[in-house]
Amino acid sequence: MRDFTRNEEGSHVIVLPFPGQGHITPMFQFCKRLASKGLKLTLVLVSNKPTPPYKTEHDSITIFPISNGFQEGEDPLQDLDDYMDRVQTNIKNRLPELIQDMKLSGNHPRALVYDSTMPWLLDLAHGHGLKGAVFFTQPWLVSVIYYHVLKGSFSIPSTKYGHSTLASFPSFPMLNANDLPSFLCESSSYPNILRIVVDQLSNIDRVDIVLCNTFDILEEKLLKWVQSLWPVLNIGPTVPSMYLDKRLTEDKNYGFSLFEAKVTECIEWLNTKQPNSVVYVSFGSLVIHKEDQMMELAAGLKETGCYFLWVVRETEKDKLPRNYIEEIGEKGLIVSWSPQLEVLAHKSVGCFLTHCGWNSTLEGLSLGVPMIGMPHWTDQPTNAKFVEDVWKVGVRVKTEGNDGFVRREEIVRCVKEVMEGVKGKEIRKNAEKWKMLAREAISEGGSSDKSIDEFVSMFC
Ligand code: UDX
Repeated sequence: MRDFTRNEEGSHVIVLPFPGQGHITPMFQFCKRLASKGLKLTLVLVSNKPTPPYKTEHDSITIFPISNGFQEGEDPLQDLDDYMDRVQTNIKNRLPELIQDMKLSGNHPRALVYDSTMPWLLDLAHGHGLKGAVFFTQPWLVSVIYYHVLKGSFSIPSTKYGHSTLASFPSFPMLNANDLPSFLCESSSYPNILRIVVDQLSNIDRVDIVLCNTFDILEEKLLKWVQSLWPVLNIGPTVPSMYLDKRLTEDKNYGFSLFEAKVTECIEWLNTKQPNSVVYVSFGSLVIHKEDQMMELAAGLKETGCYFLWVVRETEKDKLPRNYIEEIGEKGLIVSWSPQLEVLAHKSVGCFLTHCGWNSTLEGLSLGVPMIGMPHWTDQPTNAKFVEDVWKVGVRVKTEGNDGFVRREEIVRCVKEVMEGVKGKEIRKNAEKWKMLAREAISEGGSSDKSIDEFVSMFC
């Protein structure tokens, strides 16, 4: 085995994502950008399957696995507080050892880039003489809302589905309760998650560098405000440039997938379809739909008459109507996980029905795919607001009742509107514009590319 701590030329940075797909993916992609500019990276991966450290196919990136304190087969998310405690304990035990070993081998790490959901890592970094750089995997608007909640300058509404106008932020339409990050309005149901998301901002005033997976023009006016407070660098979208300009010379490894993607099955199926004829449906790595909502969604997709490629995770499969796969036949393909970027980049895909996780939203935007937002929780309602009312690259489904139920007729209406209607044409035009702007941001000399150069220059 190679000695992962051996002295290597170049400055070294440690990167530590929260152990969820929506966090590992953008932070690994960020590592690849830094590596391409000359930094050496150690990506710390917390999981219940720790292996010895190893190199990725990018020689400058080493993976350093740490246990999350759970055995294989145990469900770590049964009790969130217990999970966060065990993750914290294990990181606090192992990370100082790693830093020490690296220092002893002359490979002194210069900074710790850590996930915003683990703000206590700032003191650990400073305690070992490292700069602390926090990484936000959500848009600025969401972080700013949490900041105001933390400071007591934003009162939490009592109901999630109220429609009274509540708040406004620079360059953003007024927000209703149902546009706000969900935990604010559901604080009584998820008090521990509310605490975690708000705490992301708890020590931001002491952070050395604040990184965000967004790009300057995407939240232009808000950016001025956050820059006046903190040392902000926008480094997104963390989508590999090969998907944006289709240069196949770059590698396709988008990130560490916690699920196995059905690559050939998806791409071969898409290859048989006409351009812009397929609805791609995915709700990310965490969303759990109630059974009646899954049934309604299934019926709605069938009623659209369009081809659809639907990601239904293994744990959600039992909620599909009986015989559904046989009934839809060639009209639909259901897979447990897809190579999402390859799918979104495929010419047959005409729209993306998404939960509006921030990564999925940025991916749809960067690849110019019109979106239908069906947000579930956390930052997703606010991201859906961006999609529909700010960038105007899609629509958002209308819900019914107090539990956010979406009827099949609404799915059909939204698909028709985006795939066929006059509004659809306008949306497609806007989607093309934002795709170009995203590409510009990460191309050489673009705003995010410059931010990455600035970050690298602090350590080289
Ligand atoms: C979560 C939150 O929803 C998000 O808003 C937050 O800021 C980060 O964590 P998740 O719900 O999983 O993540 O959604 P998303 O942010 O969209 O991330 C999912 C990732 O998985 C995307 O990068 C997407 O490309 C990938 N994916 C999803 C696949 O590769 N294949 C799939 O079939 C589905």
